[in-house]
Amino acid sequence: MSRIAYVDGAYIAHRDAGVHVEDRGFQFSDGVYEVCGVLGGRLLDEAAHLDRLERSLRELRMAAPVSRSALRVILREVVRRNRVRDGIVYLQVTRGSAPRDFVFPSSDVKPTLVATARAHDQAARDRVAEAGRRVILAPDLRWKRRDIKSVSLLGNVLAKQAARDAGAFEAWQIDDDGFVTEGGSSNAWIVTKAGEIVTRPATSDILRGVTRQLVLKIAEEEGLAFAERAFTPAEAKDAAEAFMTAATAFVTPITQIDDATIGSGAPGPVATRLRAAYRRRALEMAADGA
Ligand code: PDD
Repeated sequence: MSRIAYVDGAYIAHRDAGVHVEDRGFQFSDGVYEVCGVLGGRLLDEAAHLDRLERSLRELRMAAPVSRSALRVILREVVRRNRVRDGIVYLQVTRGSAPRDFVFPSSDVKPTLVATARAHDQAARDRVAEAGRRVILAPDLRWKRRDIKSVSLLGNVLAKQAARDAGAFEAWQIDDDGFVTEGGSSNAWIVTKAGEIVTRPATSDILRGVTRQLVLKIAEEEGLAFAERAFTPAEAKDAAEAFMTAATAFVTPITQIDDATIGSGAPGPVATRLRAAYRRRALEMAADGA
């Protein structure tokens, strides 16, 4: 089956899909994006992804390309046309195409909107994730507004390539003060030996992950102890458990950081419980149309 992409009002063959050479996304990475998980044909936590998209646009003084309700239709249509049961839907908005100039173009330049969807084998992903993953540590080379989900991802690209080169799944980035910020494309968590779930506060230092927010809510509802505070690699290596969260990974246990084994070396009970609870909750919310 051939894939379909949405580009500025048209559903076209994925292989022919493109934007202009002077699109500001291409020229300046002047754009924002979202990745939403799809399970059983349902978009997971769509409302929170759209809320974050709107915030990213506002923070960059970028116009919304279409209304929120139109965007919801487009996302569903892209999922449907690509026959995605399990996978992801990706959307990107840039400040549009204009003669190259650093300053914003005039307000009559229309933002560019692209949406694509991709299926994956969820059962295979679950098997690998549930066996536990390894992360490495890498310096955080990124800009200071990591709360904006911008397509400026060069630091993330380098961190994730370093992980790949080291045979690891993800890189946990370290700030100048020696604390873990987040993964290259995920949020970072530990569970201390005292049983406290710890993740960094959602300031401009990290992306406020949609998965992160739902996991925090679940922890609260289930009466699990948690704290939003920064932690060091040393604390992480000494933790009872570690895990990461992202729309593409849900809750994925981490069993090794660099060469240190975490806990028993097997996925821990808290991460395992949160993975199951997250999936259940996200599917329930999707069924309710949230
Ligand atoms: N990345 N931090 C970073 C730097 C990310 O890129 C992501 C997600 C997250 C987790 O956010 P969420 O739970 O909303 O997916 C945290 C997506 C999946 C990506 O770029 O592919």
